[in-house]
Formats: sequence, C-alpha cells, structure tokens
Amino acid sequence: MKPLRKAVFPVAGLGTRFLPATKAMAKEMLPVVDKPLIQYAVDEARAAGIQQFCMVTGRGKTAIVEHFDIAYELEATLRARSKNAELAMLRELQMPPGSISTVRQQEPLGLGHAIWCARAFIGDDPFAILLPDDLVMSNVPCTQQLADAYNETGGCVVAVTEVPRAQTNRYGILDIGSDDGRLVEVRGLVEKPKPEDAPSNLSIIGRYVLTSGVIEHLSRMERGAGNEVQLTDAMAKMIGQVPFHGLRYEGRRFDCGDKIGFLEAQIAFALKRPDMAPAVREFLKHYT
Ligand code: G1P
Repeated sequence: MKPLRKAVFPVAGLGTRFLPATKAMAKEMLPVVDKPLIQYAVDEARAAGIQQFCMVTGRGKTAIVEHFDIAYELEATLRARSKNAELAMLRELQMPPGSISTVRQQEPLGLGHAIWCARAFIGDDPFAILLPDDLVMSNVPCTQQLADAYNETGGCVVAVTEVPRAQTNRYGILDIGSDDGRLVEVRGLVEKPKPEDAPSNLSIIGRYVLTSGVIEHLSRMERGAGNEVQLTDAMAKMIGQVPFHGLRYEGRRFDCGDKIGFLEAQIAFALKRPDMAPAVREFLKHYT
C-alpha cells in the first residue's frame, strides 16, 4: 500500500456566496481570526504528513500561491525593526522548496473536473483532497484521521457527518452498509439529493483520501448534479473496486463558504485563543 504524501486543494471557485468581498479577492484568502482559510487547510495537510501540495487555481487566485512564497521585502523590513515574533510566524509558513505545484482549471466545470485537472500531479499515488471552505476544529487534524483510516482500510475514505435531512441537497450523501459508529461502509453515493430521495443523512464534508483510480472515471467527463462534473459520481464508480469507507471524524466542521458558518468559525476559533478569549467572551455579552 502506498503511503499518503500528496494533497490537492481545489481553489478555483468563484466565491459568489461571499460577494462583494470576493470580487477582487480569492475566497480562500478570507481570514478566520488572523489566518486565511487556505492556510488552515495546508497546515492541516502538513500535520498529516503530506509533502506535496497541488493547488487547482483559476483566474484571480495568484494571492493564494504568493501567500506560501517568501516575502523578501517584508522579511527584511521586519528584521530591521526587530519584529522577531512576526518573522518566526512567516518562517513557519514557508514551504519546503518545490513542494507546491499549481494547475489551472480554466473553466468552472465542477469539483470533479478540478480534481481531474491535477491528474499529472496525482499520477498513480493515493491523495488527499481538502476543500478550504470546510474548516475543521479537532484534536487530531481531520486529514490525519483520514490518513489513519486509509492505513487501516487501504482504500478510499471520506470524512462524514450527519446533517439535518432538509439539507441533504447541499452535500454528497452516503448509502450506508455496515457501520461500527466510526467507520461506515459506503454502498453508494449521491450528489445533492432532495431530502425525499436521500439514502441517508450522512454527508461528505470537504476532506477525502482517494486512490488514483478515480481519475479514469473523471476523465469520462460525465455531467451530474448542476450539470457539473461531480467528484461524488466518479467516487461512486469506485465502490466495489476498492474498499470505500466514510469516517465519522472527531471534531467540529464550519462551513466557511456560508456567511453564518464563517461568522461562527470566527467566534469559535477566537474563543480557542488564550490571548483573545476573555475579550471575546466579554463583548459577546452585549449581543445575547
Ligand atoms: C462539494 C461536494 C459535496 C460535498 C461538499 C462538502 O460540494 O460536491 O459532495 O458534500 O463539497 O463541503 P460544494 O460545497 O462544492 O457544492
């Protein structure tokens, strides 16, 4: 079994739910407290032993890649001013040379198409996918939890959580086989089913570990929900070919592609910070 060392970050989305903030700025650069969403995702992948990172970008997304570059002028200025804490913070952000690749998704044809665009990067290796919109607060990083499950099962693993039935039309939904309360055998997958058609209310969040065979299914470019090339549909074709499981991860997921989810993440992450929590708790009293 090949070790998990690669991750793909689909970051070409337009971010229409966050207009006007995202008119001239990538939605993945929106900060939760003081860190952009993309950095949470990259940090999470690094913590899980990922060594090669591929951003699937699009027009207007250059800031995402620059964020992980060395900012010489900034560092020189910080050094001259003895801003050592800030310098150390930037150093931590620095990625090993050659570890970040980018490919362009030239047209918004769907998540499946975005992953297919990274096919040369993926090659024959297993890979993680992290959707930066989904922010997970957990003790063990969510991607690490998936990597552990991958090492256990040797196939595809997706992070799953129960959602209210009325919301199944927002997610990829599982048809479930055996279930030990943590690992769930996946019997089928449906992208954004209506509540009345949903096989369960167990939904995929934006964390996956997949084997490279999914690329062959994606390359057929079959259109699914929303007339897009859906990753969920290609994954569904892998069931029976490789072990396929859902993992009820430990942690809390915030949908930062949604305004309320994003606001909640700000509060939750600020309350985790010892330097901020008391002040945040204090001002929150004025709003309840
Ligand atoms: C995508 C996937 C969906 C998944 C969701 C998780 O949908 O297509 O299966 O449940 O991410 O956030 P999107 O949010 O891009 O519409």
